[in-house]
Amino acid sequence: MQHHTCPWWLGYALANPFRRIMHEPEKILAPFVRDGMTVLDLGSGMGFFSLAMAGLVGAQGKVICVDLQQEMLDALRKRAERAGLSERIILQRATRDDIHATGPADFALAFWMAHEVADVQKLLDQIFSTLKPSGSVLLVEPRIHVTEREFQRIVALARDAGFTVGEAPPVSISRSAILRKTT
Ligand SMILES: C[S@@+](CC[C@H](N)C(=O)[O-])C[C@H]1O[C@@H](n2cnc3c(N)ncnc32)[C@H](O)[C@@H]1O
Repeated sequence: MQHHTCPWWLGYALANPFRRIMHEPEKILAPFVRDGMTVLDLGSGMGFFSLAMAGLVGAQGKVICVDLQQEMLDALRKRAERAGLSERIILQRATRDDIHATGPADFALAFWMAHEVADVQKLLDQIFSTLKPSGSVLLVEPRIHVTEREFQRIVALARDAGFTVGEAPPVSISRSAILRKTT
C-alpha cells in the first residue's frame, strides 16, 4: 500500500466546495456527530470535513483537527476564522508516527488518510485509547489508492486494536467501515 503524503497544495482542491457534489459532509457525518460532542478529524487537510463537524457539534462542542502538515493546518485556521468557527476548532500537528491527539473524544473521522500512514496499527491503537468507552470511528479510504484486500487488512488491524467492525456507510468512490469501541 502507498504511504506517500498528499501534497499540501492538493489540500485546496480537497477543500473546494465543488467536492460537495460527491461528498456532502453533513450528510456523511450527521449519523455520528451530535451537539456538544468532542470529535477528531484525523488527517484533516484544510478542513473540508472539520468545518461541517464544527457546525454539527454546535457551540458547546469541539473539533480536534490533526494533520502532519503545517500548511494544511494554517489554511484550516484561516477557513475556520472566515466561517466564525475558530472557537470550536483545535489544531494539532501530528508527527509521522504519533497523532498527538488528546481526548477523550466521542467520535473520530479518518477520511482518506490511513493509507498515508506507515504504522496503521499504531494509528488505530492511538485512536482507540483517545476515544471514550462508547466512541466510534468512521474510516473511509479512496478506492483508487486502496484495494478491497488492503482495506480489509486495515479493518483486521482495527479488530486487533479492540474495535468492533460495524456497517459500511455508502461514500462515493470510497470504501468505508464504522469501528466501535463497544460491542
Ligand atoms: C488525502 S488527504 C485527505 C484530507 C481530508 N481528510 C479530506 O478528505 O479532505 C490526507 C491528509 O492526511 C494527512 N496525513 C498523512 N499522514 C498523516 C499522519 N501520519 N498523521 C496525521 N495526518 C496525516 C495529510 O497531511 C493530508 O492532509
